[in-house]
Amino acid sequence: NIVYDIKGLEDIKAKVKETLKAKDVYVVPGDADLNPYVLKEIGILASKVILSLIEDVKIIAVTGGQTVKEVVDNFPVCSFKNILVVPARGGIGQEVEKQANTLAANLAKKINGCYKLLHLPDTMDEEVYNLLIKKEEIQEILNDINSADMLVFGIGNAIEMARRRKLSQDMIEKLKEVGAIGEIFGYYFDKAGRIVYSTTTIGIKLEKIKNIKYMIGVAGGSHKAEAILSLGEIKNNTIFVIDEGIAKKIMSLE
Ligand code: G3H
Repeated sequence: NIVYDIKGLEDIKAKVKETLKAKDVYVVPGDADLNPYVLKEIGILASKVILSLIEDVKIIAVTGGQTVKEVVDNFPVCSFKNILVVPARGGIGQEVEKQANTLAANLAKKINGCYKLLHLPDTMDEEVYNLLIKKEEIQEILNDINSADMLVFGIGNAIEMARRRKLSQDMIEKLKEVGAIGEIFGYYFDKAGRIVYSTTTIGIKLEKIKNIKYMIGVAGGSHKAEAILSLGEIKNNTIFVIDEGIAKKIMSLE
């Protein structure tokens, strides 16, 4: 059982859970926007949440990003030999330490499990994409990715993520026009929870995530509150591990 009640965070947690209509919410003290160490705390707590569910899991998919990296870096060494870890999508583009492939391999090592990698960029031309997905080895890993029973994912601000993913200035302007607020694995959401854009991407498909047993969303820093609120129905199926900064901002916005 995970107990984390400092400064009445249990109360905040219950309120945020209700506001988001989330499957569950865990809150660590502090605000990662003010103190980056808070991200490590999120990583530690998310690891505990994952460990409490891991016996029930065969395939774990992970996205890239600093917050998921904190989860992997702070995961205890253990032994779950039969678990396969895969990247939720491509992602060559950001720093290698934060790429989904690297994080999948590192998590697999921590749990003494196995991993498969996807050596493909996040975004590519439609034509190239259509050719690649016909390849047997790509099909095989895509099947594994889309059969994941746990997905550990980071949540980002739409415009911040578009810049990080090196979308063109034109595209960034378009995202602003359509009101993109939040981003998870290449899908951009507006305030009403509608998907307003998605990158042509190889990896986990949004229509599959309804079937994922355990969705673990990790985010730190109050500037990500709107992004979390924008995630539409995905919130209902997600266990969030966030910080006090986000939690309080979510409550102030609703
Ligand atoms: O899609 C969102 C990103 O994974 C968030 O990345 O944890 O580095 O802010 P971050």
